[in-house]
Amino acid sequence: MESLAAWAAEGFGSVCRKLGELRPAIERIQAWYQNHPRGSTTLLGCASFKEYCKRRLHRHESTVYRMLGMNGAMRKVKRLDARRRLLEAHASAGIADVVAADIRHCAMEQLLADVRGIDAIITDPPYGKEFLPLYGELARLAGVALRPGGILAVMCGQAHLPIVLADMSKHIEWRWEIGYFMGGPSNRIWSQRINVGWKPVLVFGGVQEKWISDVVRSEAADKTLMDWGQSESGMTGIVEALTVRGELVCDPFCGSGTTGVAAVRLGRRFLGCDVDELRVESSRARVMLALGPRQMRAPS
Ligand SMILES: C[S@@+](CC[C@H](N)C(=O)[O-])C[C@H]1O[C@@H](n2cnc3c(N)ncnc32)[C@H](O)[C@@H]1O
Repeated sequence: MESLAAWAAEGFGSVCRKLGELRPAIERIQAWYQNHPRGSTTLLGCASFKEYCKRRLHRHESTVYRMLGMNGAMRKVKRLDARRRLLEAHASAGIADVVAADIRHCAMEQLLADVRGIDAIITDPPYGKEFLPLYGELARLAGVALRPGGILAVMCGQAHLPIVLADMSKHIEWRWEIGYFMGGPSNRIWSQRINVGWKPVLVFGGVQEKWISDVVRSEAADKTLMDWGQSESGMTGIVEALTVRGELVCDPFCGSGTTGVAAVRLGRRFLGCDVDELRVESSRARVMLALGPRQMRAPS
């Protein structure tokens, strides 16, 4: 066990890319610790593989947590901290809440059933298989909530793209696909052996005077407030390409509010919602801070 542990620790200490290959060895060592009463099993006097790695590699605790795939708990703590700082900044800025942005705590289905005359829906729904029914419903409701000639742009993962396209284009006219190129480290889809560097933004409806480019480049995604957060630069690229000043932009899956921040900074009005109350709170604070003391007509 000592030589297996030394090999695994040295392996991921030097080359993080090898983590996938090392995973079976790491799991074997961790199981070995777990199958004995705590403290009775040690490697070089260490009561866990995490402690062993820290000591052997002389690395900081957070690095070892990351290498062992145990950083979820640490991320949660950092995220709560970022949210607290954001709400404090919003409270101390003394900004009135009745402005050009309206962010509601409700489901996409409810928001889009209630509003009309939206110029553009620009959104980033969840990508998992269990969320697939949302895409067809979004397209159906967008057909009613958008003004005539309004545009729907939907970021989506590649894994279920054929189903998403088929479901959505039943309800609204397919126009084009924008390539959204992401900065930062690429995600790995192990089952497909693909390093992902871009994702599609599906565009429906809305052929206007304005020419649009089908490429948007983004900095690394912003995961400060949530795992799925997009970057402000990326969402700014999409909002700028698809809308003009004064228009009403809607994101009915607004998460931490990145589309809203981009929209109000570019002089658009914003309407958003999310089913998660904490995210709605963060979104409101972010968008209000981005608006600053400017007062604009509330979206109707
Ligand atoms: C991919 S995240 C959006 C991230 C966002 N683009 C950002 O930068 O923060 C998708 C969001 O959709 C929300 N959601 C899931 N189902 C929903 C529904 N039926 N209606 C509204 N929001 C929903 C989730 O709570 C999540 O915050």
